[in-house]
Amino acid sequence: MTQTAQAPTAQKTNETPLTPESSPSQADAAVKDTDIVLEMRDVSYSYTKGGKQVLKNISHSFSAGKVHAITGPSGAGKTTLLSLISGLTTPTHGAVLYRGKDLASQDRYRYRSHDIGVIFQSFNLLPSLTVSENIILSMDASGKKFDRPKKEVAQELLDQVHLPPEYANERILHLSGGEQQRVAIARAIGYEPDVIIADEPTGNLDMTTQNDIMGIFRSLAHDENRCVIIVTHSPQVAEASDDVFALAPLQRVAQRTAKRRVRRTATKN
Ligand SMILES: Nc1ncnc2c1ncn2[C@@H]1O[C@H](COP(=O)(O)OP(=O)(O)O)[C@@H](O)[C@H]1O
Ligand SMILES: [Mg+2]
Repeated sequence: MTQTAQAPTAQKTNETPLTPESSPSQADAAVKDTDIVLEMRDVSYSYTKGGKQVLKNISHSFSAGKVHAITGPSGAGKTTLLSLISGLTTPTHGAVLYRGKDLASQDRYRYRSHDIGVIFQSFNLLPSLTVSENIILSMDASGKKFDRPKKEVAQELLDQVHLPPEYANERILHLSGGEQQRVAIARAIGYEPDVIIADEPTGNLDMTTQNDIMGIFRSLAHDENRCVIIVTHSPQVAEASDDVFALAPLQRVAQRTAKRRVRRTATKN
């Protein structure tokens, strides 16, 4: 039994729609191999604590130039899936491939600091530092070289996430939730990662701010060819994405299968 996307799953920009009848690998055939940045290949994951299996036989590809939404009810394993593709943990079974190479055998610190930008649910900004200090810290950690002073880059990033220039010297604690979200995005894109991952980035935001933040993500994918992956509960965010991967909770899938089995047995008898 495979835990897959629940129907209906949209693969909006691909010519081959990802329907329950067509497997993810068939749909992915419509995407040029070179566009695929990240790939989950038959991934399963169990937490050692309690031995609880959260993900089972998940296969999906994430491409450059696209906004991918991951949806599903609370507890379905969305955050767990993000920690696997962001290299924080490794699958119990199967593999996560970054540009065709298994993450498990790569320098995952470099991958996390250099190749992907993560926007956490709780932002994880350093509250005692200023906005630009938070942004520059992650640019430093990436080890990348910049052709201009980092302060100048940080100033441009503020513009990109629609924050006024004077916010550069503002302390994080003085900002609203929506403003902190924008700083978290600026910090995640400062070192120009290939992949941008966000866990419910619009969860507590009003509709106007949510739309604006989605506009920023869409521009990163469509204008800068980044691979953007967003976990969301919002139908509007899913609608504004190019590809939706709906994660079904494993236990409910298991329960449904068990019920079907019982029903079949009942019919037989
Ligand atoms: N560190 C952990 N140890 C054990 N179980 C966990 C841990 N983190 C999450 N889980 C369990 O894994 C399941 C999926 O969690 P999560 O990935 O956070 O789901 P979602 O983000 O979709 O709400 C939940 O049942 C949760 O209780
Ligand atoms: Mg979560």
